[in-house]
Amino acid sequence: MLLRIPEVLDTARLAQCRRALAEIEWVDGRVTAGHLSMAVKHNDQVREDHPVAARHGRAILDALEQNPLFVSGALPAKIVPPLFNRYSVGQSYGPHIDGSVRQVTGGPERIRTDLSATLFLSDPGEYDGGELVIEDTVGSHRVKWPAGDMVLYPAGSVHQVLPVTRGARIAAFFWIQSLVREDRRRRMLFDLDLTIQRLRRDFPQHGAALELTATYHNLMREWADV
Ligand code: NI
Repeated sequence: MLLRIPEVLDTARLAQCRRALAEIEWVDGRVTAGHLSMAVKHNDQVREDHPVAARHGRAILDALEQNPLFVSGALPAKIVPPLFNRYSVGQSYGPHIDGSVRQVTGGPERIRTDLSATLFLSDPGEYDGGELVIEDTVGSHRVKWPAGDMVLYPAGSVHQVLPVTRGARIAAFFWIQSLVREDRRRRMLFDLDLTIQRLRRDFPQHGAALELTATYHNLMREWADV
């Protein structure tokens, strides 16, 4: 499932983040690339241990914790601290797969990457090219959304960032280990959750919402790894 989460960051947060990123030093993005990705990855990143990355990464995670669409769609168990990348003219990231397990820098924790997330920090008008292209079972999706919006997609999908031909594309990216590792199951739980919410809104007195909520939690008990 490919999910759009609009307005993860509000205008003020976004501006603070962009200002901070404009003032710091960027390094070659290959510092975090695996062996195969290294050959196709051409971008810049903020160092993982940079205080700006830590501060604004934390702000993104705080915003996501309060975001019902993210929580329902991702069912997050653990999240890799967000990193920041920039594609300038001529830069791109060819087709690749994200690594399946990530070691959190500076700690013993390992996180299975069930979902990949890209949070756009540049508006589409600021650059040409730079689309994120995600292949899934029903074809390929081209994603280029307003600053503040985020795309969530299965980390096992082949994806790429097309070359930027004008301006620069800045984004935050990270991975999520979900309570439910299997994409189809997560999708069914998400659909069921949306149905329950609609039922609650349209028929607040109807007992079916409680029954479906029980089914939701019973499925979670079957499927969640905690
Ligand atoms: Ni990737």
